[in-house]
Amino acid sequence: MAARGEFSSRMAFVLAASGSAIGLGNIWGFPIQVAENGGGAFVFTYIILTFLLAYPILMAELLIGRHAKKDTVSSMLAISSERTRPLAALTGVWGMLTASFILSFYAIVAGWMIAFFLAAGADMVGISDVKQWLTDFSLSRNIIFCVLFYLLTITIVSRGIAAGIERWSTRLMPMLLVLILVLIAYIATLPGAAEGWRVYLQPDFARVLDPKLVISALGQAFFSLSLGVGTMMVYGSYVSKSENLPKLGAIVAGLDIGIAILAGLLVIPAMYVALHNGVTIYNEAGQLIDSDGLIFNVLPALFETMGGAGAIVALLFFSLMTIAALTSSISMLEVPVAYAIERRKMPRAKAAMLVGLSILAVSVILIFNFNALFGLVVDLTTRYSEPLIGLLFCLFVGWVWRRDQILGEIKQGFEGAEHSLFWRIWPGYVRFVCPLVVLAVMAQSFLA
Ligand code: TRP
Repeated sequence: MAARGEFSSRMAFVLAASGSAIGLGNIWGFPIQVAENGGGAFVFTYIILTFLLAYPILMAELLIGRHAKKDTVSSMLAISSERTRPLAALTGVWGMLTASFILSFYAIVAGWMIAFFLAAGADMVGISDVKQWLTDFSLSRNIIFCVLFYLLTITIVSRGIAAGIERWSTRLMPMLLVLILVLIAYIATLPGAAEGWRVYLQPDFARVLDPKLVISALGQAFFSLSLGVGTMMVYGSYVSKSENLPKLGAIVAGLDIGIAILAGLLVIPAMYVALHNGVTIYNEAGQLIDSDGLIFNVLPALFETMGGAGAIVALLFFSLMTIAALTSSISMLEVPVAYAIERRKMPRAKAAMLVGLSILAVSVILIFNFNALFGLVVDLTTRYSEPLIGLLFCLFVGWVWRRDQILGEIKQGFEGAEHSLFWRIWPGYVRFVCPLVVLAVMAQSFLA
């Protein structure tokens, strides 16, 4: 069998994994959740949940993956016992399907980002009917840009780990950081921005334990770290045995939180600048305009009010979104592609094309039945599947995978792991705390 790919350095892994984690969830989802859930209170709960719950599960996935160095189904089988094999295989397959369905809706939204990016360009050169088409919600526009986004994703994944995923993540992630900083700095100078900063940074502590807020923060933490589908497992399988995984995992979680917080510093002040410029950001009921409205109506309306600078800011903003989406979508596609390569013995290029086009077919179905299906697929995958699969990962690591083997795996690249704080806390954590908290939060969300 051909040699498996591997990330060529620590930095390459950190950029690829944080590229996966940092996506539309950070730059679009997070600021909106903040705005809807009491500003700083949400930020606070989100950070706590990321460290207490999401990081331990991230570590479970990374360790399983690096231990087995295989696709997710094979990796789950490698840590299972005789009796749990069927459940292990089922968990792997379910994760793979969930990753595919997440990609099916994610790529549609990503396609809109490309369209809005081009619309800003069309605006600059003054072709307004093209701009109109690019920003209108039509079948043709939705399909064309979704297909374009798949072609980008498939092309990168078909090149493999080092020459595809790693190369593009290391190119795109620094660009993302620069773009976000430039935009924050610019927006901060505009009238109205200060009010946004204030709302964002002042936590309303009374709301920190509001059940709706906690459920949203947990969902956000899971989605944002790409957990519960095997993405991090498969990226973990490409990490060298000489790396200290608990440390790398912590860096990735930290970067993910950091960029989410920066995105808030961009989008929330931008909303208040929009308000200041006369754009409506609240509906009649006094609630914030819903999520797509915010990105696709409020912000473009804001850019319109900025005069000449507006088109440039729009161009930068939507290229930021497209980059963030692309480094995430490749990590989703890699889950089923690794399976097709390793268990179905397909060459990578063929696997990427075949799997990618099949998921594209699902996206097209979603586009044609947008109102009936889009929200349903988002909910089923992100609210139910991801937490449940995350729970199963924890149960496997906590109860099935042999302790000595887990320690052996952590010790690779982390000598003295058995005396570390990580080893003292984490095993009991994935065994008891994570499953119970996930269950409690899910039960809440059924009752709520
Ligand atoms: N974490 C990414 C974001 O915040 C999305 C993502 C990438 C993802 N891979 C995933 C979400 C796997 C769930 C599962 O946008």
